Amino acid sequence: MFRTPIRSMATAARKSLTIGLIPADGIGKEVIPAARTAIEALGSDIPNPKFIDLIAGFETFTRTGVALPEETVEVLKNDCDCALFGSVSSPSRKVVGYSSPIVALRKILDLYANIRPVVSVCILSLVHVDMIVVRENTECLYVKQEQQTFGEHGKEARATRLITERASTRIGKMAFELALARPRKHLTVIHKSNVLSVTDGLFRESVRAVQTKDSRFEAVTVAEQLVDSAVYRLFREPQIYDVMVAPNLYGDILSDAAAALVGSLGVVPSVNAGDTFVMGEPVHGSAPDIFGQGIANPVASIRSAALMLRHLGYTEAAHRIDNAVDSVLREGQLLTPDLGGTAKTQEVTDAIVKRI
Ligand code: NAI
Ligand code: MG
Repeated sequence: MFRTPIRSMATAARKSLTIGLIPADGIGKEVIPAARTAIEALGSDIPNPKFIDLIAGFETFTRTGVALPEETVEVLKNDCDCALFGSVSSPSRKVVGYSSPIVALRKILDLYANIRPVVSVCILSLVHVDMIVVRENTECLYVKQEQQTFGEHGKEARATRLITERASTRIGKMAFELALARPRKHLTVIHKSNVLSVTDGLFRESVRAVQTKDSRFEAVTVAEQLVDSAVYRLFREPQIYDVMVAPNLYGDILSDAAAALVGSLGVVPSVNAGDTFVMGEPVHGSAPDIFGQGIANPVASIRSAALMLRHLGYTEAAHRIDNAVDSVLREGQLLTPDLGGTAKTQEVTDAIVKRI
């Protein structure tokens, strides 16, 4: 597996590392503690880690009327170097006053890039997959400007989709940087400009323009793929992809689809990255179908912790976590049910921690 060095934030002067923990809902409560244990096992590889437990989520909303308490945001902004977020149980129907706290946090903290490496777990994968989905994290349909009106033929619903040159350029730059650091140096721009020529057209054009403004990026081979056929090719020939960059919604869908190729959503990590803050987050949701059984796969969260540390410049610490996870998965003795095993979250976590 090639581990892309993500753009690192300066670490030199840091005497301690304060990590906000927001398990939120469902299996987030089971897998974020696992990630914490993995970080604690690193010992002196990271400076004096401190954890701050923070609340957010649908359960918090039903208890307090607020999904993302002001205090959580303030502590993240003022006291934390980075954070780990679990998953929220956002309802599929409109609930007055509720809005997803993770979508809000990405905007408030300006975590504009969602970086999702999807890599084969050797023994479980039929095909070799080693790609990164780079998802724009602050706009597209996720600006959540929706309206319902009554027209001549009944209810009508509209959503605003925002694409800006600024956001498309900065996510493009992040994607080029990531592609440049990888052996294949290949970037695929995902869009649907054949239909949405104004919005997706601006995304496409802004990302491509990044290459012409920085001579370093000449080394990157750029391809384009319409999002529908991108999904088709993802299933048929995933090996063609190296780094993919996409607007928010397409990136969300593509990365869940890619997760199916590597065995489970339970092994795919991500970081939400901005220029001054980074938040690790497993790609999966709160998995209400398995919550409470102690069988959630902790790998996605543990790898998200590694990704977060790598982003902060703690490369060696991140390697130690990833190597321990690789070793447990390769051995194949302790796998959670999503990967065909019978192991519990705690058993897998213990095995990984022992190897760290
Ligand atoms: P999901 O990702 O929660 O679950 C999809 C399937 O994958 C389920 O069968 C689940 O059991 C399995 N799965 C997911 N993570 C797993 C893990 N770590 N170990 C083993 N199996 C795992 O997606 P779904 O069902 O569409 O959404 C459930 C809830 O999660 C919804 O309320 C949704 O809004 C929320 N959600 C939250 C996200 C977030 O917090 N960023 C992201 C996606 C969904
Ligand atoms: Mg998703």
